[in-house]
Amino acid sequence: MTIKKYLTKIEDLSNQKIVLVGGTSGIGLSFLKYLVNKNAYVILLARNIKKAEAIVNNFNYSNIDIIEYDQSSYESIKKGIDVLLEKYPSVDSIVLNAGVISRTKELMEGHPYSIGVNYYGVRYFIEYIAPKLTSKTKIIVQGSLVAGFHLNKKTNINSNNFKTFKEYNISKMCVEAYTYKLIKDKPYPNIDFVLTEPGVTATSITRDLDSFLKHVGKIFVSTFFHSVNKASLTLLEAVTSRASHGSYIVPRGLFTISGYPKYKKFPHKREREYLIK
Ligand SMILES: NC(=O)c1ccc[n+]([C@@H]2O[C@H](COP(=O)([O-])OP(=O)(O)OC[C@H]3O[C@@H](n4cnc5c(N)ncnc54)[C@H](OP(=O)(O)O)[C@@H]3O)[C@@H](O)[C@H]2O)c1
Repeated sequence: MTIKKYLTKIEDLSNQKIVLVGGTSGIGLSFLKYLVNKNAYVILLARNIKKAEAIVNNFNYSNIDIIEYDQSSYESIKKGIDVLLEKYPSVDSIVLNAGVISRTKELMEGHPYSIGVNYYGVRYFIEYIAPKLTSKTKIIVQGSLVAGFHLNKKTNINSNNFKTFKEYNISKMCVEAYTYKLIKDKPYPNIDFVLTEPGVTATSITRDLDSFLKHVGKIFVSTFFHSVNKASLTLLEAVTSRASHGSYIVPRGLFTISGYPKYKKFPHKREREYLIK
């Protein structure tokens, strides 16, 4: 199988309006290229408007709109959603892909920063937009295989003493547990929730790490794991008509680290309701 061949199995998306959060770098940018290739109408929610405009200008494709949105601030999330819904009262899919691995000790709305952006930001987004969506919509949440790592049940997720990676891992454990709860409880009957993971791939997500770790890590990951264009295929699969409420889509290789997308049963161990009270 090649990526080119895989793409032939993906339907044309010209009847789809897709909101993409985190489409200006790495996995999201690769996914954005696929959306353009499949003729979707894309609404890009981005914190850096100049960067987003430069990307869009490069495509020579008129069906992309940009709305300012910063997932590290509840005010900005709210504002971004208000603008979005005013311009587009209904959309087909919303892809929540933005994420960070941050070393900052600054808080995001009172939470450790990475946990704030990657979990509380996503949760705030969903809780603010979901009651306002009146037509059938699919919301796709980007998780990570680190959500399967061990965690002591007594961990206080709002303590600000985590090491950088531990904090990131917890953010993804929380966002997966939260998405799974939405899948199980179905509090918003007109919304289908889908959970994806991209495996492991070299991107700028390591930008905040110290430079030795960043460079060695990038070389290691690009040598042994899959390309960003393969990693973004789980998102592409998620917007197709094959993915529905409760779909959990991961790379098919060993330990779901790399490979083409496959549908899997959500692992019981990751439900972790204690994290998301
Ligand atoms: N790379 C991997 O191996 C891997 C593995 C598992 C899961 N993931 C997940 O995949 C997703 C994409 O990661 P990536 O590796 O592609 O990283 P990336 O290249 O750093 O891309 C992250 C994206 O999120 C956006 N973003 C970050 N903070 C934001 C904020 N406060 N508000 C709005 N947008 C924000 C970034 O915008 P800017 O362009 O403005 O920075 C960028 O578009 C993340 O959720 C990550 O946790 C990645």
